[in-house]
Amino acid sequence: MKPLKVNKRIILGPGPSSANPEVLKSLSNPILGYLDPEFFKILDDVRGSLKSLFRTNDNAFALSGSGSSGMEAGLTCLAERGDKVIICSYGYFCERQILMAERLELEVIPLRSEWGKQMDSSLLEEALKENPDTKLVVATHAETSTGVKQNIQELGKIVSKYDAMYMVDCVTSLAGTELLFDSWNIDFAYSGSQKCLASPPGLSPCALSNRAYEYIRNRTKKPSSWYLDLSLINDYWGKDHIPQYTVAVSSIYGLYESLRLLEEEGIEERWTRHVLNAEKLRKGLLELNINLPISEKDRLDQLTVVTKPDHIDDVEFRNRLINDYSIEIGRGLGDFEGKVFRIGLMGESCKSEYVDLILDVFKKEI
Ligand SMILES: Cc1ncc(COP(=O)(O)O)c(C=O)c1O
Repeated sequence: MKPLKVNKRIILGPGPSSANPEVLKSLSNPILGYLDPEFFKILDDVRGSLKSLFRTNDNAFALSGSGSSGMEAGLTCLAERGDKVIICSYGYFCERQILMAERLELEVIPLRSEWGKQMDSSLLEEALKENPDTKLVVATHAETSTGVKQNIQELGKIVSKYDAMYMVDCVTSLAGTELLFDSWNIDFAYSGSQKCLASPPGLSPCALSNRAYEYIRNRTKKPSSWYLDLSLINDYWGKDHIPQYTVAVSSIYGLYESLRLLEEEGIEERWTRHVLNAEKLRKGLLELNINLPISEKDRLDQLTVVTKPDHIDDVEFRNRLINDYSIEIGRGLGDFEGKVFRIGLMGESCKSEYVDLILDVFKKEI
C-alpha cells in the first residue's frame, strides 16, 4: 500500500459536507485516554456547547456512530417491544425509522403522507386521538431525501397533549435551521456531525430530556442494546463520568473545534448564512429555467431539490461534475430516484462562492 492521498472535492450533496480545515487540524491532536481528566474537561465543554446549540437545559452528548446510531438508540431506548410508536413518514429517512422500529418489534403506526410536501399536522392529532396509549411519536425535521422542512414545533404542541414522548431527527437541520429542543417539547433529538456542523462523519450529537432519561433508567426491561443505552451514555458524559465504552476521542476533538467555530460565528448567524445562500442558489436556478419542485413554504435551506431536465442523463451528469469539476451533487432517493438532483449547502459547504460555482457549471452543462 502507498501512503494515502485523497483528492479534494467540493461537496454540494446531501451529506457529508466538507469539514472545516481547522476541524481537520484538531483531529491530529495527541490521543488522550477516555477517562483522562484532561479529556473530561473537553467532554464538559462539548456537552455545554451542545446544550446551547440544542437550546436545552437538560442533557446533551455525542454518540460514537453516524446519524443512524442516534436513530437506532432512540427507538431502542424510548419504547419497548409491543409499544405503540407513531412514525410520521414523508421520505426515505422516515422509512428507515420504520424499518428499525419493525426490527425492534415495536407496534409501528406509520403515518404516511406524500413525499415532497410537509405533512399536515392534523394527521398526527387524529392518530393520537385514535391511539391515546402511544408511547412515542417520531418525526424528521429536515427530510434530506425530499428537501422538505417539517413543522416540528407544531407537532410537538400536539404530542404535549398526550402522554407520549417525542423523538426528532435533526441530522440535516442542527446548526442550519432554528431548533428549540426544550420549548418545542422534544424528548430526544439526534443529529450527525457531518452536515451543518462541518465535522467529519462519525458522531451523532444528541439531546435527551430529563423525563426521557428517567424513563430509560426505570424501565423494567433494560434496552436491548447496551452499546446504545442513552442513559449509560449520558452518565459517561455527565458530571460523574461513569465509564462506558472507549469513545471516539479524535472525533470529539473535531466536534469541539466545530462547536468553537460555531460559537465564534453565532448560532443565529449560521442559520442566516444557510438562508441567504439557499435564496441565492434558488434565484440563480430559476433564472436558468431549472424547475424547483418543492413549494416555497415547505423548502429546506440546507438542501435544494431540482427537477432533472429530460435531456440529461442522471448518472453521466453527476459523474461529469465529479470528473471535470471535482463537485459532488446528490441523486434522487426512493420516490425521487432518477427524477431529481439534490444540491446541499451545509456547514463548510454553504458558501456564496460555491453557489456561484455550481450555477456556472449548470449554465455550461445543462
Ligand atoms: C434526515 C436524515 N436522517 C438520518 C440520516 C442518516 O445519517 P447517517 O448517514 O449519518 O447514518 C441522514 C443521512 O443523510 C439524514 O439525512
